[in-house]
Amino acid sequence: MTQTSTPFPDGFLWGASTAGHQIEGNNTNSDWWHKEHSGTAQIQEPSLDAADSYHRWPEDMDLLAGLGFTDYRFGIEWARIEPVPGRFSRAELAHYRRMVEGAVVRGLRPMVTLHHFTVPRWFEERGGWTEPDAPDLFARYVAATAPVIGTDVAHVCTINEPNMIAVMAGAARAGDAGFPPAGLPTPDEETTRAIIAAHRAAMKEVRGINPRIKAGWTIANQVYQALPGAEEVRDAYRYPREDVFVEAARDDDWIGVQSYTRTRIGPDGPIPVPPEAERTLTGWEYYPRAVGHALRHTASIVGDVPLIVTENGIATADDTRRIAYYTGALDEVGAAIEDGLDVQGYLAWSALDNYEWGSYTPTFGLIAFDPETFARTPRPSAHWLGGFGRTRRIPRTSG
Ligand code: BGC
Repeated sequence: MTQTSTPFPDGFLWGASTAGHQIEGNNTNSDWWHKEHSGTAQIQEPSLDAADSYHRWPEDMDLLAGLGFTDYRFGIEWARIEPVPGRFSRAELAHYRRMVEGAVVRGLRPMVTLHHFTVPRWFEERGGWTEPDAPDLFARYVAATAPVIGTDVAHVCTINEPNMIAVMAGAARAGDAGFPPAGLPTPDEETTRAIIAAHRAAMKEVRGINPRIKAGWTIANQVYQALPGAEEVRDAYRYPREDVFVEAARDDDWIGVQSYTRTRIGPDGPIPVPPEAERTLTGWEYYPRAVGHALRHTASIVGDVPLIVTENGIATADDTRRIAYYTGALDEVGAAIEDGLDVQGYLAWSALDNYEWGSYTPTFGLIAFDPETFARTPRPSAHWLGGFGRTRRIPRTSG
């Protein structure tokens, strides 16, 4: 194995990502908080205090900057900013504004996610995304975030993983039959249409707030790999779960690529992970090369829209496997850049261990935290990965 490296392209983002609900704690006015306390079977434990990053964000940013990262993706919570319809909390807007300024003074460029799976409880109770005025309501919230994102924010993500939102809506409609043993449920078409409309409306608002902000959205890429002869089955399976959302980014300033594992497709559809394959704490196949496939597939759809890896990582209790995973993934990112893909950044998932939508067991964090004292401990992987922000080179293992 040769050891080389690929220089960061100019302006390359090098960072880690988080989402409000997963680290802040006590997001009590959100649909998810409500769901966590309503006895839903898939939810093993509630988020409660999470990592208390709502209060401890300065420490998190100090750590990330000290480790060598130059970029930090974090979410702002609609449920806090608009606690009741049409009333915006100046205190919460000021809170998130302090985070933006706090990132900048530490040398971290903030990438702000406006929506990461959670909505205000009132929005969910009135019918959620498929209500006819849902895109307008989202746009109204986005307009209200001007004091947060109006200056100092180079990148805004409107909606995180819209394809997973449509898939989850599809699963909910199908009830118990929702989750297949392999692959993903059939997305709800009405939600797909609504969420694309909401993205377009949000893009317009963000551009109105500051035309210099680079805005886009981030797509969950499942790296669908066809067995020989199953290419058409794969394409038909993938389109509503992924490609329709990637196509909707063709006029955006960038597209976020998020990948963790792969899904193999045979003539009858998705194939379960074979028993001998190594699995991570989420049960997914350990497959570090996923991000390379995800970048190339996305580029084949969006043409010259810049690509940013906005999430990539592994849930593991063994940090040496995390370093091994990132080693394989970064090799793919470097190869994609050298092949001429316009990859403009890489943000690991996740900065911190966090609430993995129902459980704290899958630990994705570069930084661990103690659930009682909230004391943070960067893992060796955090020091290793952050350090490339100083050399500004991507390590390569395959030449
Ligand atoms: C989401 C994150 C999640 C991660 C790992 C992505 O689907 O954006 O919220 O924690 O993957 O499952």
